[in-house]
Amino acid sequence: MFLGKRMGLIFAWGTMCTLLITYLMLNHFDSGFSGMAHAKSGGGGGSGSSGFLSFILGQKRKPPMFPKPSQELVHDCNSSLVYNARPFVPELPIIYVITPTYSRREQVADITRLAHTLLHVDNVIWVVAEDSQECSGLVEKMLQRFGMPYAHMTSPMPNIYRKDRYKPRGVASRRAGLKWVLKHHNDNDGKGIVYFADDDNTYDLALFDEIRKTERVSVLPVGFVGGQGISSPVVENGKVIGFTDDWFAGRKFPVDMAGFAVSVDFVTVRTNASMPYWAGYEEDVFLQTLGVDLADLEPLASQCTEVLVWHTKTVKVPQPKIMANHYEHSNLNKLLDDVNFKGAGIAGPKKGAKELKYCMDGIICGDVHHHKK
Ligand code: UGA
Ligand code: MN
Repeated sequence: MFLGKRMGLIFAWGTMCTLLITYLMLNHFDSGFSGMAHAKSGGGGGSGSSGFLSFILGQKRKPPMFPKPSQELVHDCNSSLVYNARPFVPELPIIYVITPTYSRREQVADITRLAHTLLHVDNVIWVVAEDSQECSGLVEKMLQRFGMPYAHMTSPMPNIYRKDRYKPRGVASRRAGLKWVLKHHNDNDGKGIVYFADDDNTYDLALFDEIRKTERVSVLPVGFVGGQGISSPVVENGKVIGFTDDWFAGRKFPVDMAGFAVSVDFVTVRTNASMPYWAGYEEDVFLQTLGVDLADLEPLASQCTEVLVWHTKTVKVPQPKIMANHYEHSNLNKLLDDVNFKGAGIAGPKKGAKELKYCMDGIICGDVHHHKK
């Protein structure tokens, strides 16, 4: 009896060990992109050694960093390469600002703010790529009105990444934007610089004078990144000797998307350059696939002593449902059409819609609040 129980236990342990060893071996041989062993090693949710942890915890394995070409669907909406808002300055390099965007309540406000920054900058071609199946009429209308050269396209996140806990946001758009630039920039245009500008950040105009100096790959500090509020190269005697950042996580280049620029010529010759679909590791893997070393990085912003860009976020608030059943001869109906179109609210006599609040005829509106101390 005793012996039988013991044999059973040994048998169970044996089976467990065999299963574990088989799993580890399978996992080992399925570690994906060969050159990227370093980038994967610290990977939150990556495969390789952490894949085993995922197995124990019953989590899903991460999909690959790079999808099959058939999984990336890029569609051109419209483009205009005419310099209407400000004239082209032949002696200055072109800056291709690649901006991922997606439809949401804050989109019009964010895009407006970024556009009104870019409208102060010479030789910007704005490459706007939407995370969507369809070209947004709203975005197209805005781009036409701003009067700067632009290319508008759709580049939805491949479905295999949509279920990810940490979605690689904006990657499909940056990849599509970069492809567009490599296809459309020609040497007669002079020098070209690529900068990945998320639609919700805040950019000092001096940033653009800086990134225009990029020879191959330039880097600079970014404010409001992580708990320490700053992510920056560490520079000594004009050379990048390291980085300060709140989150290292196995990265060789712990930089923010807003913290670097690359020249079109350099990306053209580094044909391996590819931004991965891997949240948190987009910049690092991209810079690694460009094949640069620390010593190659060109520090900008007065040797990285100035913050010229901030990783800001616009507060997300659910769209309120509103309607206006009064003052039908006033501005309100048309105004609510615009609110609807630009997405600040959902306007119209829908279920759950709240009537707007009014204060008319110059009376004192509402009661004075006596705020409790
Ligand atoms: C941070 C980094 O700054 C991004 O470069 C990085 O892509 C992102 O994290 C990530 O790895 O997920 P964060 O401010 O947290 O950015 O993200 P968002 O501003 O929400 O998105 C980054 C860009 O992607 C924006 O331009 C946004 O419009 C776009 N986006 C966001 C999409 O295209 N689709 C989405 O579903 C969400
Ligand atoms: Mn953002």
